Amino acid sequence: VNGRVHLVGAGPGDADLLTLRAARLLAIADVVVHDRLVGPDVLALCRPDAELVDVSKHPGADAAAQDDINELLVARAQAGLDVVRLKGGDPFVFARGAEEAQALSAAGVPFDCVPGVSSALAAPAAAGIAVTYRELARSVVIVTGHARALDDQDWPALAAADTLVVLMGAATAGELTRRLIAGGRPRDTPAAAIQDATLPGQRDVRSTLADLSEAIAEAGLRAPLVLVIGTVAALDLRRSPLLEAIA
Ligand SMILES: C[S@@+](CC[C@H](N)C(=O)[O-])C[C@H]1O[C@@H](n2cnc3c(N)ncnc32)[C@H](O)[C@@H]1O
Repeated sequence: VNGRVHLVGAGPGDADLLTLRAARLLAIADVVVHDRLVGPDVLALCRPDAELVDVSKHPGADAAAQDDINELLVARAQAGLDVVRLKGGDPFVFARGAEEAQALSAAGVPFDCVPGVSSALAAPAAAGIAVTYRELARSVVIVTGHARALDDQDWPALAAADTLVVLMGAATAGELTRRLIAGGRPRDTPAAAIQDATLPGQRDVRSTLADLSEAIAEAGLRAPLVLVIGTVAALDLRRSPLLEAIA
């Protein structure tokens, strides 16, 4: 009899931001297959005798690595085990959860998805930024800054979003800010970068779009970083609930 695979979001980092369902599944799973961004506090919630498999993908990992993960999930489930596939943030936000769901489905393995709190929303919030704001920001676009995707993006369209949230943009911040400016976004648009959101080492910088990559370098920030571009990036609700900054 097949086991089951749960595609589970681990949230942005702080173990307190796991869903109750994620915590409950971790406590009973036979096998937990996880990524690099899932921290020790979350893994501490696994059953003590569970098999933990780290399938961290490093930048540039090829499709073969994903095939290996798919095969691992199918094999463990076909052995009758209860498997949690644990991914940082939400499993369907730049996390290839859909490909794993398709592989499981093709193999006839039952699965379900447990959404997680995505860093795309949690990182701005943790840095005091509301991604929407009445009359100021009526749209939010979440985009990958991955180098491989840069040429395929519609930069004028992205430049037109009220709030743009960029994941995987640490290495390409300079290039993508140039493309946004070329696409029509004003150079002085507020911008922010948040590193290790919700974790004890969280840091963030504020800047303008034109100076964002320099501000990141000056502050020594590095991946994982979420970038926020738009009027609301001038907000810091932790310090000043008032909006003088963007009035
Ligand atoms: C492969 S994507 C996975 C996104 C994940 N599925 C989610 O919903 O948050 C990895 C990127 O997520 C962002 N990220 C994830 N956790 C983060 C955190 N705690 N702080 C800042 N950025 C984070 C970074 O942009 C990182 O490069």
